[in-house]
Amino acid sequence: MLPNRILICLLSLVPGFCCAEDIPPVVQEHCVRCHGADGLATAPGMPHLNGQLAAYLSDALVKFQKGRQPTGVLNHVPASLGAAEIGQIAEYYAAVKAERPKQEVSPDKVALGAEIYRNRCLDCHDDNGREADKGAPLMAAQKLDYLVAQTRLFVSGRRKFGFLQDEAFKGLSNDELEAVAHYFAAQEQLAPKVQGKKKRR
Ligand code: HEC
Ligand code: HEC
Repeated sequence: MLPNRILICLLSLVPGFCCAEDIPPVVQEHCVRCHGADGLATAPGMPHLNGQLAAYLSDALVKFQKGRQPTGVLNHVPASLGAAEIGQIAEYYAAVKAERPKQEVSPDKVALGAEIYRNRCLDCHDDNGREADKGAPLMAAQKLDYLVAQTRLFVSGRRKFGFLQDEAFKGLSNDELEAVAHYFAAQEQLAPKVQGKKKRR
């Protein structure tokens, strides 16, 4: 019989089987069922979490826990999880390496979205959504249906705008906001290890 460690390491070579040893138990228990070990969306309406900023993730998890951000998931972040566990979950998904799959987007919407992005969104969702400022999340290659749904939640007032974000949305139609979502969805994500560094010219 092979010792367990060797078995686990052999299994980790099988595509899709991530080394169970590396996943914090709290992630395994509460999140992997839906968000996977790699943080890639497993179902429609779900965001990719891989490579997201740890600080943004922690903040979002606390908002879910305290009922301050709308969610369709019952008990999304159990109240029993403490600050240390939330920090551990956030660090895990922020660091996990996975490639976000290419999505089908409308070229016309991407073009319109690019224009609106430059005028309205760039300040906080910098470098085509690969950088972020003022507490904003990274957006590049995020799931299109998720982005559209969150945009609608903001507009309806069910999700609270971040700092000065309401100004950026003011006067934009649903179609225009959807176009920006296509724009973000069409961008390539950076690998987690180079995140945070400005691109050199
Ligand atoms: C039953 C499936 C399910 C489980 C379990 C689950 N999620 Fe989610 N998660 C979703 C769905 C669906 C969404 C999309 C929006 C919504 O309805 O909340 C989402 C959204 C999110 C977001 C996006 C929030 C934002 O503001 O960008 C984060 C972060 C997240 N989940 C983290 C977690 C973590 C961490 C766990 C484990 C503690 C977890 N989720 C457990 C299904 C799930
Ligand atoms: C002044 C800064 C600022 C500007 C400008 C801005 N945003 Fe944001 N955005 C934020 C912040 C902060 C958040 C996180 C909100 C929260 O904490 O829930 C956010 C979150 C989002 C999300 C949710 C992403 C997720 O993972 O859940 C979407 C979608 C979004 N912004 C779209 C836009 C669009 C489209 C524009 C331009 C029309 C824009 N934002 C302009 C600051 C900004």
